[in-house]
Amino acid sequence: MALECVPLSDALGAEVRGLDPRRPVSGPDREMLIAAWREHLVLILRGHALTDAQLIAFCRVFGELDPPGPNPYGAPFLSEFPELNVISNVVQDGKPIGGLGAGEAVWHADMTYQDVPPKAGVLHALEVPDSGGDTHFANMVAAYDTLPGGIKEQIDDRILVHDAAHNSAGQLRKGYDETTDVRQTPGARHPLVRTDPDTGRKALFPGRRPHAYIVGLAVEESEALLDVIWQHAAEPRFAIAHHWRVADTVIWNNLCVLHRRDPFDSSARRVMHRAQIKGDHPVT
Ligand code: OGA
Ligand code: MN
Repeated sequence: MALECVPLSDALGAEVRGLDPRRPVSGPDREMLIAAWREHLVLILRGHALTDAQLIAFCRVFGELDPPGPNPYGAPFLSEFPELNVISNVVQDGKPIGGLGAGEAVWHADMTYQDVPPKAGVLHALEVPDSGGDTHFANMVAAYDTLPGGIKEQIDDRILVHDAAHNSAGQLRKGYDETTDVRQTPGARHPLVRTDPDTGRKALFPGRRPHAYIVGLAVEESEALLDVIWQHAAEPRFAIAHHWRVADTVIWNNLCVLHRRDPFDSSARRVMHRAQIKGDHPVT
């Protein structure tokens, strides 16, 4: 069966069919897959359960793996595969088997508080709840394109501080203190409008809303402009929701796409294995 990409909406996303991710992907299939990822920004493969080694091999089609972010428990969740992370609410023998719990994760891109954030995130579903826990993805190329000209002018050369102190569930990371003044937010500084080196397309690159700060502006001005940008970026027309089935694999462009997760019943089990692909320094 030939590889086929079926668009999922006008906003972004495509389902990849006719590809077995458990087998080596090379030649024209590899090129098509990468081109589809650049174009559609989110790719979904269904019905192929992967071992950790298979997941790693498949992810390498997109580039070198980037290690997971700092783990609150000080040791990788999968000791045999430290390049993978676990996203789960399951607690076994009193210890969480993964991060992020069962609560909501607000719109964000991953690890943009680093100077070189990952260019792609990958989630593979091992166990999913019947309802809730959907993951939403929003197209920041389309969000930038549709901004009013006046707002584009205000943000085109601006630099944004990306908070390193909290994770996407809002929890304080180890080694950081709460701050109330956004001018003190620790974390990397990136252009608020980023140009993708592969496609030349511009995208909003807003990271996450809490604790963000536009460098050089008065705090009230920064807050007001960020509110305008976020209200626009979070409009439903730019987004899709993914309702998970076991054995789904989703690969998203972490620098052109935001994602968020709905909460789910904490007594249900949700287990995802997770990888990310090394990126480049974001440029204007
Ligand atoms: C992540 C993340 C969302 C989810 O893994 O970076 O935000 O649906 N996960 O679990
Ligand atoms: Mn995330």
